[in-house]
Amino acid sequence: SNIHLAIVVGSNTRVSINRQYAQALAKLLPAHFSVSYPQIDDLPMYSLDLEVERPASVNRFTDEINAADAVLIVTPEHNRSVPAVLKNALDWGSKPMDKNVWRDKPVALTGTSPGAMGAAHAQQHLRQIMGILGSVVLGGEAYIQFKPELITSDGEIGPASHGFLQAYIDRFVSLAEKLKG
Ligand code: FNR
Repeated sequence: SNIHLAIVVGSNTRVSINRQYAQALAKLLPAHFSVSYPQIDDLPMYSLDLEVERPASVNRFTDEINAADAVLIVTPEHNRSVPAVLKNALDWGSKPMDKNVWRDKPVALTGTSPGAMGAAHAQQHLRQIMGILGSVVLGGEAYIQFKPELITSDGEIGPASHGFLQAYIDRFVSLAEKLKG
């Protein structure tokens, strides 16, 4: 059956290497997967005061995550951790606790950075956060150092990383299928 994947990009930079990487990864999905890219850069900074009446952008975001069968998070790392814009979106989705959108959601993590450690620390912190929120986080890891050849001029994953990333995506596809039943 059809599976809907929300790809959350943890960057609010207009020309984001992680957005380009995310779009190239989407091309590795099988045809029965549909994809959307929920916007996070217009969510206000989380405040309990705003819970009185949640802003429309927040409801839009949580609706999109609720509607997704699975979530792929593709994120840079800021100061060896999760970028604030992404953490803010995770926080909005986690509240109120009985409506936590992340619970039981299949989630895979990846990201790229020009640094040699390829956003590994951000993913490590994310793994802890998503575990606490009750997501089913794909095991294994995909830390990718950004080099121009990561993405071809056609927007595909380049040959050096293609096999590794196809295998990672294939494992996530099979997890999402199993959990959808
Ligand atoms: C960074 N960058 C960065 N890179 C890294 O590998 N480890 C890090 O801890 C940090 N820290 C960091 C903090 C802040 C505030 C900024 C703005 C940047 C560099 C980062 O990887 C680079 O800007 C990437 O291009 C970010 O990805 P996007 O936004 O282009 O997808």
